[in-house]
Amino acid sequence: MGESQRSAPAAPEGVDVEKPSAARIYDWYLGGDQNWAIDREFGKRAVQLFPPIRDSTRQNRAFLGRLVKAALDAGIRQFLDLGSGVPTVGNVHELVREHLPEGERATVVYVDYEPVAAAHATVLLERDGSTEWAGLVHADLRDTDAVLRHRTTTELIDFDQPVCLLMIAVLHFVGDEDKPGEIVARYRNKLAPGSWLGISHATDENVSAEDAAALHEFADSYARTSNPMWVRQSADIEPWFGGWPLIEPGLVSVADWRSEATLSPAGQRARPFGICGVAERPR
Ligand SMILES: C[S@@+](CC[C@H](N)C(=O)[O-])C[C@H]1O[C@@H](n2cnc3c(N)ncnc32)[C@H](O)[C@@H]1O
Repeated sequence: MGESQRSAPAAPEGVDVEKPSAARIYDWYLGGDQNWAIDREFGKRAVQLFPPIRDSTRQNRAFLGRLVKAALDAGIRQFLDLGSGVPTVGNVHELVREHLPEGERATVVYVDYEPVAAAHATVLLERDGSTEWAGLVHADLRDTDAVLRHRTTTELIDFDQPVCLLMIAVLHFVGDEDKPGEIVARYRNKLAPGSWLGISHATDENVSAEDAAALHEFADSYARTSNPMWVRQSADIEPWFGGWPLIEPGLVSVADWRSEATLSPAGQRARPFGICGVAERPR
């Protein structure tokens, strides 16, 4: 949709439209309409600072799609999506509906602390009649008890059965002072054997000094938003899998995880900036 056709949605209660938010900026990168002028202004400036961001975002989203399909193919029927974002095309419950074998049941719990993401997900689930098997927890993922003990979580997720835990493009909004490794461990420890943990994250590994500087300037600009951002490398991220074996192809670019797509020149340019991995709790 072009900028001129865009009609600003009414802001749900609690939404700060004076400060850009990562969820709404991400929605703008992806071409969605759940963003306000403040988010779009920030996004345009961010694209100037770091031109690969929109391709990088699309690659991340495509990785999420391939991961959900792979988890379903592996027999996992429960998804806990932390930092799920403003619903856009290819949400986890839509992917599940598309790929789940006929006659089978799966459940999805979305978690986000951003009011627009939470409100929009709730409306979407009600509108498409998915509330019996998919729900939204409006909470801060750092508060693991609030997420894990929430009624929606306990009603939809049986932690004695395998879960696909998704932490996709969210942990770069959790600062070192919050000890992301300990947070991830609290979720990991809750999961049954056969569960999967999928993580993607912004990285400056294997990029030129010039590209690293551009990415850092971009990430630093998020200090002005509700979500300051951290750039990390595989040595920071790999321990979060707690020694669970990484499934093939290991810790790689989001563009490369089980993808056969040929990248455009812009896609190649974006490729190094998103790293991902998926690990399975040994049975
Ligand atoms: C870049 S978006 C990623 C959305 C989706 N996971 C994806 O990859 O397409 C990051 C999301 O994480 C959410 N988020 C960031 N920190 C969070 C926290 N501490 N608790 C819950 N959600 C958080 C933001 O509100 C935003 O919606």
